[in-house]
Amino acid sequence: MRIAVGSDHAGFEMKSQIVDWLRDCDYDVTDFGAHGLESVDYPDYANHVAKAILSGKADSGLLVCGTGIGISIAANRHLGIRAALVTNSTMARLTRLHNNANILALGSRIIGFEVAKDCVEIFLATAYEGGRHERRVAKLCRI
Ligand code: RB5
Repeated sequence: MRIAVGSDHAGFEMKSQIVDWLRDCDYDVTDFGAHGLESVDYPDYANHVAKAILSGKADSGLLVCGTGIGISIAANRHLGIRAALVTNSTMARLTRLHNNANILALGSRIIGFEVAKDCVEIFLATAYEGGRHERRVAKLCRI
């Protein structure tokens, strides 16, 4: 699975830890930055990850900022992107099952690394359920 990853400066450390762990697990990771703690703008990194998914260069995305809010708002401005901000593994599982989320958004100032790792693991391992959710997810593209 090809995973596109991005963060701002606030999410940089958590994003780097997750990238290392994903690569250890043999995932194909493209890290769009940020590459340090210098202050940057989260929409720029959300755009890189959203475009990688929409162009078919990545199967799934991960975004991290301080709260996860700004970077998920930015990603969701792209039609076809369903970025889900989650704070626990139940939300990560259900957003794959019900929303077919294609980006997981995390807040580095909200949850710790172990919880973040659980969220990523479940998000990547859970398939979309389809069925009764199809009509609702299709409507997201018509808003
Ligand atoms: C950066 O200070 C912070 O505003 C950003 O990481 C994020 O939390 C925005 O939603």
